[in-house]
Amino acid sequence: MFRIRYSPVPSDISADVVIVVDVLRASTTVLAALEAGAASVHATAEVDAALQMRQQGMLVAGERNGVRVDGFDFGNSPLEFDAASIGGRCVALCSTNGSRAMLGHDEATAFAGCIRNAGATAEAVRASAEDGATILLQGSGQDGQPTEEDAIAAGAIISAFMRVGEVLRFDGSACQAITAWANTVTHPAEGLLATPHGRYLAELGFAGDVRYAAAFNASRNAVALRSGVLTLVPHPARD
Ligand code: MLT
Repeated sequence: MFRIRYSPVPSDISADVVIVVDVLRASTTVLAALEAGAASVHATAEVDAALQMRQQGMLVAGERNGVRVDGFDFGNSPLEFDAASIGGRCVALCSTNGSRAMLGHDEATAFAGCIRNAGATAEAVRASAEDGATILLQGSGQDGQPTEEDAIAAGAIISAFMRVGEVLRFDGSACQAITAWANTVTHPAEGLLATPHGRYLAELGFAGDVRYAAAFNASRNAVALRSGVLTLVPHPARD
């Protein structure tokens, strides 16, 4: 039996398992980079630190105001990555909110989740969580404020978790996230495109990113997070 909590913005709520969510777009982008063959993705908060990581041989991806930073190899679009452009290298990711939210979860078993890998994330969490564990879905927010899209994605992951684990208690925010996903489940792309950040990304020409991010369970890969380093969770099909 598990307890499920949702914090729409980064918080110091203690939990046994933390799932960081930034569906538009950092957690979706991390999954895409790893699936394109990145050895690992390294979350970083500051542009200068990301550029230093580039000098040390990493590729660097990320954005400010949604747009690729000068000197970075990629923006924050999950559609930018392929095996040729990644070449098996490590990628540093510096986005405005999401990569920052991925830092500092060393006291918990941590994952980065999104709509594309909601089911895989739920299964990985179920496999790693002990009975009685508190599982915290943590949205990345935008400038410290909750975002609708992270509530939708957290709801997708919680709903997937309810299929594989027995939940003893949800907090009020988790219930709201479940409702946000239930209101979107039949039309997730339109749902994400209707959020303020979805609309902003579409205005920048990134509507394709939003549609990509909305593809529920398109991926069977979960993403582990440890000390800011993200890697694919091995699963039997790959072993
Ligand atoms: C963020 O970290 O704030 C987002 O991922 C921004 C974006 O959509 O690029």
